[in-house]
Amino acid sequence: MNTLIDDLLSLARTGMVEVKFERVPLVELVDEIKGELAPQIDTRKIEWVVSGLPVVEGERSLLRIALFNLLANAVKYTRKVENARIEIGSGGTRDGFAEIYVRDNGAGFDMMYADKLFGVFQRLHSEREFEGTGVGLALVQRIVLRHGGTIRAHGEPGKGAEFSFTLRVGEESGARVD
Ligand SMILES: Nc1ncnc2c1ncn2[C@@H]1O[C@H](COP(=O)(O)OP(=O)(O)OP(=O)(O)O)[C@@H](O)[C@H]1O
Ligand SMILES: [Mg+2]
Repeated sequence: MNTLIDDLLSLARTGMVEVKFERVPLVELVDEIKGELAPQIDTRKIEWVVSGLPVVEGERSLLRIALFNLLANAVKYTRKVENARIEIGSGGTRDGFAEIYVRDNGAGFDMMYADKLFGVFQRLHSEREFEGTGVGLALVQRIVLRHGGTIRAHGEPGKGAEFSFTLRVGEESGARVD
């Protein structure tokens, strides 16, 4: 119940706060989050492949919540596979927005229900199979949209899932045209 209330509170909050943009090196967030997820990973072995993450423009605390939820999902939904592998990287930059992906080789999901994933309390796995409240991705989507980006999900049952989203890349200092 506490988790549920915490989740709802952070969902409500992202609708209210003004986004204060700063330059955020995503690789720093990933390193911090991996540390936070250590208790969930426990004795499991996960192969992490982190490469080419950009510096983006956004509010650090919100981007952290978004990335945390995506990585926590990747850790959770690979729990039953032997050689868990989680990849986080960038598919390049277009029109000032970098595409960032979080990919795993876990339980995956049926693309038929892909549009449901981002709804509040929408879950594609049973509580018995994988615990959760169904709020994480709704939060992630709201944060990405508030940053002017887009997000989409791709999955295949038994093969894995990929979430890719766009965020504005941080401008080089001095290169800004006001
Ligand atoms: N990496 C993933 N692999 C497979 N299915 C996923 C993955 N991430 C999310 N899903 C599916 O999307 C649903 C919604 O995800 P979401 O993060 O919102 O909820 P949750 O993880 O079930 O609970 P919560 O994040 O609130 O603890 C999940 O219940 C699961 O069915
Ligand atoms: Mg989740």
